[in-house]
Amino acid sequence: MIYDILASTLIAMWIILPAYITNPAAALFGGGKTVDRGLVLSDGRRLLGDGKTYSGLLSGILTGLLTGIIQTYLVMSGWELFGIKFPLFELVPTENGIGFKAIVTILSLSAGALLGDIAMSFIKRRIGMESGDSFPIADQYDFIVGAFLLVSLTSWDWVVNTITIETIIIILIMTPILHIVANIIAYLTKVKKVPW
Ligand code: CTP
Ligand code: MG
Repeated sequence: MIYDILASTLIAMWIILPAYITNPAAALFGGGKTVDRGLVLSDGRRLLGDGKTYSGLLSGILTGLLTGIIQTYLVMSGWELFGIKFPLFELVPTENGIGFKAIVTILSLSAGALLGDIAMSFIKRRIGMESGDSFPIADQYDFIVGAFLLVSLTSWDWVVNTITIETIIIILIMTPILHIVANIIAYLTKVKKVPW
């Protein structure tokens, strides 16, 4: 029972890792030129704000891709944790390497996460919240929703064969917990200005 919960939780975290990793990567390596280039809309507020930069976007996507590639090679090399076999990012394994479909799935998870995050920044600015203002639930789930939407669009076969209802429930429970822990660490190490 406990083992089953542990196994399901680790598998769910494995699947969503290329999306999760984008957030800390963007916070760590982001900065510089903003995606909205300082654009202010007619409501007097920024399109997205200073928290969304090209370097954050690029480093997030590349870190997510690199993570997914490493995960793929770990699975293909027969690596296991507590006897748990982790899923690949493509249904039919590509011999001697990583397949095109896996790359698409991994990129969709990481790019979708960052697009979800950007969409939420757009909404936060429109309702008058400043960059960095806390918006509970939205701040925690924006990138998960973005990742799910994009990966469903590009890799539906993989999604229905890999992601179960159980996976989704675990991700919904674990996301705010990991988000809070990661942001407290980022705040304490001065990577982020606010602990959320
Ligand atoms: N970041 C970035 N580019 C991105 C996403 C994030 O540079 N596309 C960096 C920024 O330095 C940002 C930090 O990661 O401040 C944390 O991201 P997030 O919490 O999403 O941004 P906030 O500053 O809280 O801004 P917002 O209110 O728009 O969410
Ligand atoms: Mg934020």
